[in-house]
Amino acid sequence: MPRFSLTAAIAEGVTHGSIVGAFTCYNLEQLAGVVRAAESTTQSVCLLLAEGAFRSALGPALCRAMVSAAEQATVPIAIQLDHTRDLELMRRALDQGVTAVMADGSTLPYPDNVRLVTDARAIAIRYGASVEAELTHIPGDEDRAVAVATTTGTDVSRAVEFVDQTGADLLAVAIGNVHGAYATPPLLDLTRLSRLRAALHLPLTLHGTSGVPDDQVRSAIVNGIQKINVNTELRRSYLDAAHETTRDELSSANLLAIGARLSAAVEATTAVHLDRCRHRQAQHD
Ligand code: 13P
Repeated sequence: MPRFSLTAAIAEGVTHGSIVGAFTCYNLEQLAGVVRAAESTTQSVCLLLAEGAFRSALGPALCRAMVSAAEQATVPIAIQLDHTRDLELMRRALDQGVTAVMADGSTLPYPDNVRLVTDARAIAIRYGASVEAELTHIPGDEDRAVAVATTTGTDVSRAVEFVDQTGADLLAVAIGNVHGAYATPPLLDLTRLSRLRAALHLPLTLHGTSGVPDDQVRSAIVNGIQKINVNTELRRSYLDAAHETTRDELSSANLLAIGARLSAAVEATTAVHLDRCRHRQAQHD
């Protein structure tokens, strides 16, 4: 398959009755698990490349592995450089084949956020790639599960203005979601989500899906979410499987067996989230 831009993967998902699951992969075992789950459920997915992972020594190799996995997959796969405000890094990732970037200026003053997304879009458009933006900051750490509290949600009229000014292709909404672990039980603001959906005409995305109860994720999808981002739960399933490494595997130094188990754990967690992605959306009015 060719690589898909994020908007094309979402459109493909809509045609086949599902939204897009986006999964952060830090290594090849995770990547293999996510791709296998996508292929066995025949659903479009997005591979998320964390900024920290891309900046690490193995980053370029990981990026190339994602691109190659997408090209060999039997389902549409987009590859997105997640949460960055470094335009040069975006350019490098796009050169290596990612098909989407998340230009996250949510901690910048409003005019600077607008400029970042506009600049990112001018770059991405040359690659046929999509740009996701974030207006109101979604708290938390993308790489570590630190318990964080939610903040105020995305303002609807501000979001309309922001999307008009930037031309963003997708918008990450703050509706009670956080990255990493939730300090208090998550409670998504579905009323705000419905209002955002009614006012905006671009795909809305839910970050921080790990730890959100199943019924809330499904309701968020019914109410307009078209991409869910999952990272922490994938890391946890990987680490739990690593913890269960047997004495036999250790004493025989059997990396293939250990790797296969780690991959299978990630595949199972991905499949749970992909099942949610099949939840039907209510008709957009
Ligand atoms: P979680 O780690 O909370 O699943 O969030 C992932 C995410 O939103 C990546 O952008």
